[in-house]
Amino acid sequence: TRRSFIRGTGGYLPEKVLTNEDLSTMLDTSDEWIRERTGIQKRHVAADGELTSDIATAAARQALEAAGMTAQDIDLIVLATTTPDQTFPATATAVQAKLGCGPSAAFDVQAVCSGFLFGLATADSMLKQGLFNRALVIGAETFTRILDWSDRGTAVLFGDGGGAVVIEAVEWDGADDAGIITHHIRTDGTKSDLLYVDGGVSSTGTIGHVRMEGNRVFKHAVTNISSAIQAVLDETGLTAEDIDWFVPHQANKRILDGVAKKIGIPEEKVVITVDQHANTSAASIPLALNHAVRSGRAKKGDLILSEAMGGGFSWGASLFRL
Ligand code: ACO
Repeated sequence: TRRSFIRGTGGYLPEKVLTNEDLSTMLDTSDEWIRERTGIQKRHVAADGELTSDIATAAARQALEAAGMTAQDIDLIVLATTTPDQTFPATATAVQAKLGCGPSAAFDVQAVCSGFLFGLATADSMLKQGLFNRALVIGAETFTRILDWSDRGTAVLFGDGGGAVVIEAVEWDGADDAGIITHHIRTDGTKSDLLYVDGGVSSTGTIGHVRMEGNRVFKHAVTNISSAIQAVLDETGLTAEDIDWFVPHQANKRILDGVAKKIGIPEEKVVITVDQHANTSAASIPLALNHAVRSGRAKKGDLILSEAMGGGFSWGASLFRL
């Protein structure tokens, strides 16, 4: 049988920083309100002309370096994004060209904040199937470009950034809980009116802006994420105590705390980066994972539980060993 392993992680945040103080000069909000309700302190904003594919490429380069590989070693790129460079071709194709990959397939997946986990499940399945051997799975966003800067209920919550992992599949007859172990992904299209963009190619012909009923999303988030995690634990027979690091999608510290408490993961095992870069949608899990690895906290062999929830609704959980 074949199994996929994570070989390297990378991340990139645009240079420009927008603090809560900066936002409070633009909107009727305050540093205190944002910190208390979300845990966010600042966010990064892509420069004029800086594209999602540039951010993705920077993160991918770092992941390749960490894996000790070059672009030529990669035969699959799966890029999760809600903010593509263009309607088509897929932003992954721009990344493929910028990196200078050899013969390979490259495409985007769209599951908003859950995009990275959907992308990881997709790439992992294709690698295990034997279609490809080494994949870049990337989450990258220029999410600030779809924000309505006059809506304080959403403008304060999001930022730009990108994260990436290199995964490789090899023949494996060893332990079942090595490498990438399992995924549980779900969607519920009947809740799309609670979090969406009010524009698009076939509906309005415009790009549109993010619209959200934050309070209702919050409640669904804790319930859906907890059920995905429970599904993963039930499938593997593992318990919350077995988890070394909890690497959640970084939307809001209160959601993270709520989920960690519900499943019984102590605070010191929760990786939190939302304070530093707000909600970067599909980029937040690989950014948090990269942070955990580069800060020396998460080490080879550690068991990692990841989860996400976002527009769609889409949500999921993944379990893997570094
Ligand atoms: N500054 C000051 N006041 C604000 C702001 C702001 N930026 N935004 C909203 N308010 C006001 C509201 O207008 C409201 O005022 P009112 O009582 O006079 O009507 C008051 O604050 C309370 O609003 P609520 O929406 O009830 O506040 P809540 O405690 O739910 O916090 C928040 C709002 C932070 C959006 C929260 O609901 C949340 O985080 N929801 C999850 C949404 C999310 O993270 N989505 C991301 C994508 S999905 C995902 O990744 C999980």
